[in-house]
Amino acid sequence: MDSITVLREKNILLGVTGGISAYKVCTLASHLTQAGAIVNVVMTEAATRFVAPLTYQALTGHPVYTDLFTTPGEGLPTHIAHVGLAHLADLLVIAPASANTLAKMASGVADNLLTTLALAARCPILAVPAMDVGMWSHPATQANAAILRERGVHFAGPARGRMASGLEGEGRMVEPDVILGHIRRVMGSAGALAGRRVVVTAGPTREMLDPVRFISNPSSGRQGFALAQAALDQGADVTLISGPTVLSTPVGAERVDVISAQEMCDTVLATTADADVLLMTAAVGDYYPAERATQKIKKSEAGLAINLIRTPDIVGAVASRRLTSGFPRVIVGFAAESERVVENARDKLLRKNLDLIVANDVTAPGAGFAAETNQVTIVDRRDGVTDLPLMSKAEVSEVIIQHVVALLPELDSSTGI
Ligand code: C5P
Repeated sequence: MDSITVLREKNILLGVTGGISAYKVCTLASHLTQAGAIVNVVMTEAATRFVAPLTYQALTGHPVYTDLFTTPGEGLPTHIAHVGLAHLADLLVIAPASANTLAKMASGVADNLLTTLALAARCPILAVPAMDVGMWSHPATQANAAILRERGVHFAGPARGRMASGLEGEGRMVEPDVILGHIRRVMGSAGALAGRRVVVTAGPTREMLDPVRFISNPSSGRQGFALAQAALDQGADVTLISGPTVLSTPVGAERVDVISAQEMCDTVLATTADADVLLMTAAVGDYYPAERATQKIKKSEAGLAINLIRTPDIVGAVASRRLTSGFPRVIVGFAAESERVVENARDKLLRKNLDLIVANDVTAPGAGFAAETNQVTIVDRRDGVTDLPLMSKAEVSEVIIQHVVALLPELDSSTGI
């Protein structure tokens, strides 16, 4: 797990209550720590029956708190554990959150260290319920959750699925990666893109020749999905328009799935009419077959000639509409090149009327399609060229978002906002 800027050096207080999914929260504690957060774990007495405090201590590198009357370990700034931990925290995550703990929180009961902290904390709280189907659907629990929501407590889940009891239904804790996504969302909510609408396209497009064959490219969607996450980390409202990929949607993004270039074009034009930013990361196919057979084309020894037609230039269409509408404020294109990378990219930037272009040499080792890493050069309209070293696609995304953030106020003021 890479370091995550929005979590780096942040104090996350992780409250664990008594439920079998406490074992999955060990993974969350580990991921948060690897991401660079300082994780202090507080367990209820029941939680310690499922997972030993030592497990969390080993994963986080910090002492685990279980007792309201214990004096804090070294390093805590104040003399009383509940005040010290609560004041230190940037976020209190309660996972799993049992029906019992939710009920206590809703009525302000403070009879153990965790519920006391929940009352003392002034930071945001994220509750991650996990319980039996009947307990979650019970009117008492539903009313408690509604009270907490109304007071500003964030909720992640619960999900539907198979429970430890063997029953199916709603009450299952959401997976650690999803909890992490919710944590990023809460921590980034006041970021530099708060209140901004960002549209990101990702993945390949696919043009069907017949019901079973298509023309496409090897784009995995990773760079676009990482960009959507980086924009979410800065508090943006993100629409992620994706071609066919196997990636899961970052928490908080509104995803629209498309297949063909024309579908992507229609969706991008519709969603960017009043957006602040378009990040056109998708590897849009340049051609589609003139005819699409309704039945599978029969093989023949004579081979097969396919007549191809150009797909619409999506980013070009958005940029020309902007000349009259002013939206989106910032348009970022991507250039996959195999030679004269910066020259070709600059040419594309000017020709398509973009604000930034992110160029990569798809022939470079570790860069481009499907790779986990990327090596890009960011070119702007003032001939600024930022050459980045080989980085993870998540890190590349953070730098691109910084460039976008730097451009926004300038463009806002130029259009009278
Ligand atoms: O000209 P080229 O295809 O290399 O331009 C790449 C950039 O243009 C990318 O941002 C890509 O998403 C976008 N594009 C587009 N419509 C197309 C083809 C590419 O918007 N039909």
